[in-house]
Amino acid sequence: MEASLDTCGQRTVQSLLLLYLLVVKAAADCPKPQGRENIVLTNKALLMNDFPEGVEVTLECANGYDRESGSGTITCIDEKWTEPDLTCKKKDCGPPQPQPNMSFNISAGTLFGAVIKAICDKGYKITGPAYKQCYPTGWSGRPKCNIVTCAKPPEVTNGRISWDAQDLPKYGEIIQYTCDEGYTLIGEDSIVCSATGKYDSQPPECKGVTAEDRSTTASPAQGNHDEAVDVNQDFGYLPVIISVIVVSLVVCIVVFFIHKFLLRRKGSYDTREDLKPELLQFQNL
Ligand SMILES: *[C@@H]1O[C@H](CO)[C@@H](O)[C@H](O)[C@H]1NC(C)=O
Repeated sequence: MEASLDTCGQRTVQSLLLLYLLVVKAAADCPKPQGRENIVLTNKALLMNDFPEGVEVTLECANGYDRESGSGTITCIDEKWTEPDLTCKKKDCGPPQPQPNMSFNISAGTLFGAVIKAICDKGYKITGPAYKQCYPTGWSGRPKCNIVTCAKPPEVTNGRISWDAQDLPKYGEIIQYTCDEGYTLIGEDSIVCSATGKYDSQPPECKGVTAEDRSTTASPAQGNHDEAVDVNQDFGYLPVIISVIVVSLVVCIVVFFIHKFLLRRKGSYDTREDLKPELLQFQNL
């Protein structure tokens, strides 16, 4: 009987003690500390489960924020955490790395979370994301500004272009057109690759000379051909003219001597000319 009472009393005392310890201990503990917008618990604090009276926990600035002042240490006093003296400010990514032919609209600022836009110079187009964001590690994205190119310049029939390169014409480059001999250029004789990647004007046309045009204005090639024909014709007439002159001359001489011969026959004077050897042939005619 005594033993049982003892056992009962022991159990009661044990239970009461346990209850007391639980209540007192729970009342002395602080709740798990909470972070806020820009202040978070350190990894060490996150792993802790018990926060008894007097315990110290360290807080730190959240990702993207830098410590401005204070230590970040808080203490559990009377079941409450002391106010942290830590102040954090947004990280400043600073002006982005300059890129060729690129500028930035940083009206949104350069602090953590800010989004800025990359703008290319005229005649340049962006590749990659146009927007950059300030992250804890710095600005995101690596956009580039590449010069605008135009399509292969169009060929024209009966004409030539001043572009034989393999690569495409770039912004501002000029392509010159010339027409083949005997063709007239209609339109602009050059086109320029514009900032939009299109040519500023249509390529010209090389128009051939029509039958109507040829009758009024002969081309230089046509003129040369006519001249050549004329020369041939001149040489064609020449032998005929010479022949006519020679025959006429011979006829005149013959008539002259026949006349003389007849006169001598009629007249009495002898000039002895008939004895000259070169004249004998005429006498014998
Ligand atoms: C810069 O961006 C803001 C909006 O983010 C806009 O209102 C402003 O016009 C832009 N400035 C330029 C120069 O593009």
